[in-house]
This record gives sequence, C-alpha cells and structure tokens, in this order.
Amino acid sequence: MNKIVTLDEFIIQNQEMHQDAGGHLTRLLRDIGIAGKIINREVNKAGLVNILGIDGSANISGDEVQKLDVFSNEKMIECLRSGGQCCGIASEELDEFIRFTNKQSMNSDYIVVMDPLDGSSNIDVNVSVGTIFGIYKRKSKAGTKLKADDFLQKGTDLVASGYVLYGTSTILVYTTGNGVNGFTLDPTIGEFCLSHPDIKIPQRGNYYSVNQGYYLKFDVEMRRFIDECSDMNLRLRYIGSMVSDIHRIMFQGGIFLYPNTRKYPEGKLRLLYECNPMSMIVEQAGGKAMNCRLERILDLPVSHVHQRSTIAIGSPDMVDEMKTFVQRYSAVPV
Ligand code: AHG
Ligand code: MN
Ligand code: MN
Repeated sequence: MNKIVTLDEFIIQNQEMHQDAGGHLTRLLRDIGIAGKIINREVNKAGLVNILGIDGSANISGDEVQKLDVFSNEKMIECLRSGGQCCGIASEELDEFIRFTNKQSMNSDYIVVMDPLDGSSNIDVNVSVGTIFGIYKRKSKAGTKLKADDFLQKGTDLVASGYVLYGTSTILVYTTGNGVNGFTLDPTIGEFCLSHPDIKIPQRGNYYSVNQGYYLKFDVEMRRFIDECSDMNLRLRYIGSMVSDIHRIMFQGGIFLYPNTRKYPEGKLRLLYECNPMSMIVEQAGGKAMNCRLERILDLPVSHVHQRSTIAIGSPDMVDEMKTFVQRYSAVPV
C-alpha cells in the first residue's frame, strides 16, 4: 500500500524548500488547511441548518452577501488570529483590511488576502464553491503597526497561494513557488491527503469558460476570440465560481475569461484576492494569465484592496491565441 501523505506532513517536509527556517509559513498554511476543513463541514451541512440564503447586506463590491460568505470569512479570521502566524487580513468581505493585535500575531511577518467563499451564487443550489487565499510578507517591520501599503503588493511578491474547492470532493491546491500540489480531503480521517502531486496544466485543451450571456457587452476583439473558440468546437463550461472553472482547466486544459463589460469596465474579479492567487497557481503549473490589455496579471500594480481586473487565464497556448486575436482585431486602421 502506498503511504498516505497528509497536507501537514507534506508542508513540513517542504519547509526548507521555501526557506521557512522558523516554520512560520508552514504553520500558517496549516491554519488555512484547518479553516478549509471547518468551512467544508459547514458547506456540506448547509442545507440542514439555517445557514443558506442571503445575509441581507451587500459587500464593498456591491455583491449580495450570503450567510455562508459571512461564516467563511469569520472562520478564516478566527483560525488565522488564533494561529498567530499572520498579522493582518484583507478579504472580499471586509471593507478595510484588519490588523491582529495579539502579541504573537503582531510580531509575525505574514499577511493573508482572501476570498473566503468564491461562487456564492452557487450556494443555495448545491453547486461547487471555493476559498481563495494568497500570502505575502509584510513590507513594514514586524511588530510595528500594519499599513495599507503592506497589502498593495504585486502578484509577483506572493509567497504562497492556493484554493480549496468544495466540490464532489473537497480539494486543497497550493503553491509556494515550487510547483503546485493538490490534497483531497478524506472525510473518514479528516485529513487532506496528497492526491495530485506536481500538477501541470495541459498546453491546450477543449474547454473555454466565459459568461457568454454578456457576449454583446464584450469588446469586438474578445467577441472574435470567443467566436473562434466556438468555431473550433471547444466546449463551453461556466460554473460561475472561478475556482471551479479554473480547477477544471488545471487538469483538462482550456481558457477562463472574465473580460470588461459595460457594467464592469475594469472587469468584475478582484485583483488582490481572486486574480493574483489564481494566476500564481496557474503560472506555477505552466499556464499563463493576463488581463485584456495583454499585461501579465502578476505584474499589475495594486492601488487598492478591492481593485478589479479583467482576466484571461489557463493553458499557455490558448492564452497566447487570445493575445493574437486581441492584437489583430483591436489594431486601429491607419
Ligand atoms: P464571489 O462569489 O466571490 O463574489 O465571486 C464570484 C465571481 C467568480 O467566482 C465567478 O467566476 C464570477 O463572479 C461570476 O460572475 P457572473 O455571474 O457575472 O458571470
Ligand atoms: Mn470570488
Ligand atoms: Mn466571495
């Protein structure tokens, strides 16, 4: 029988590879794993208890907040606060970043950015949702008051990032910059176990993923690329949870697009805690991610926590093809 490698064992084994001599990043990743298990438990029993449905409020981005959004946000914060390995958090569900004030947290080097529950519109209908996280080192000195600037770091500065997908099974996928590994939750032992080592995204695939309902609201060059996807008989898949849509592409290849629309001229997805962590993972698996201005997502300057970005992400050949189409069809005639 092959030996089961749990997430905790794997993280500890790889501690040296990400120069985490003090073990702080290791413990922080474990805290996120624990929060993932707690959120998973709640997502699974959501239909049985009074935790489904809208919360009645809207977050800073104007999205209707679901009760499970609030729960997931609180659980992540609780786990990270009590773990003491990060000094602050920026979240989709927090208007402003928060600082932890207990001594151990204040003295830690790391900050976490997160979308505690991605794909909330799927919750009430038993469709997959996820959690996205990114970990940065703070720029200011440990022990001093955390500043807004500490969160305004480019994706290239990410120390680690990952997601948990609460799907037909629950899987945690993460990277610390040395490849990508996936761990499936074995509910019988309550552990994430290494199930998908060294994930490599296919060079190209048969899927494209975009909200085609907005087709007429996209720029002409993006419409031409979507036409091409359709002409090539690619299969359209769109779950409405970026984590789930990109997870498919990680294994089967394809491209995920969220372009600018009239309603969202800068795109809908948030750069800091949605686009950047997912782009780090996809790049680490051999894929590419750029915005519709053809700039690499991970190089984009971040000027505020809830900043939005357009995104095209996935198999490298398909992102390159999107780039060619955009260049060709947006060329201004002379
Ligand atoms: P969230 O639930 O965290 O607000 O994110 C939802 C996001 C993303 O996961 C998904 O791809 C997209 O919004 C769906 O938006 P549309 O309904 O506009 O297609
Ligand atoms: Mn989201
Ligand atoms: Mn969310």
